[in-house]
Amino acid sequence: MIDIVKAENAFKKYLENYDVNDGRVKLKVVHTYGVVEISEYLAKKLNLSKEDTELAKLIALLHDIGRFEQSKAGNGTLDIADEKLFDHAEYGVKVLFEDNLIRNFLEDSSYDNIIYKAILNHNKIQIEDGLTEKELLHTKIVRDADKIDNFRVKQTESFKVLFGTDDIDYISSQNITEKIYKDFMNEKLINIRENKTCLDRWSGYIAFIFDMNFDASLKYLKEHDAVNKCFDRIKYTNPDTIEKIKKMRLLANNYIDKRLEK
Ligand SMILES: [Fe+2]
Repeated sequence: MIDIVKAENAFKKYLENYDVNDGRVKLKVVHTYGVVEISEYLAKKLNLSKEDTELAKLIALLHDIGRFEQSKAGNGTLDIADEKLFDHAEYGVKVLFEDNLIRNFLEDSSYDNIIYKAILNHNKIQIEDGLTEKELLHTKIVRDADKIDNFRVKQTESFKVLFGTDDIDYISSQNITEKIYKDFMNEKLINIRENKTCLDRWSGYIAFIFDMNFDASLKYLKEHDAVNKCFDRIKYTNPDTIEKIKKMRLLANNYIDKRLEK
């Protein structure tokens, strides 16, 4: 059995180790609770049982624990850019299941495989093969919820936190690398390892729409006008970028409408 209230209290206690007034920590805390809320929304839309709904919320609560642990492990940062060097999902399952941190949040071990697989796969380009039906369901929920909340993060967080600089002129004048643009226009997820400019990274965030598992996820984004708000946040000044963004925006909106029509 899952006691989600107990798990949430344990998470609050866990956060006492961190300075939640630090911008980067705060970003991750708010994001975690955002993913919990969206997971619950998706579970409802999918008509899941109470047990699966609570499990989805628990996975959401713990999905980024690797990032919190990472800052303690010595390199002292929660920065997204570090993703190239450090897989926070692998680290997350390590601390949860090798170091047994999971038992602080949940006594019952019968959900361990599902939680393990969902967290491990939450940030990968593709979900690994061979998952059970339940593992796959929860992996898909946390992946969608994580990506959806990232649209909120990208609209609200400071450029300093997102890009490591608040030089708006610099950010707005950047290019989008040809390979990144091509992947976007082919409705593909963008591999963060191929990012060269901060607008490549920005394009990659918006490309998350191409990997949504559930129509309910796209519906949520459309209702919040999340994609256009993201495109609009930066006032692009590079003529080549302006052209690319125009085409990307059109394609993105059409993609969502097409999928919701079905
Ligand atoms: Fe996340």
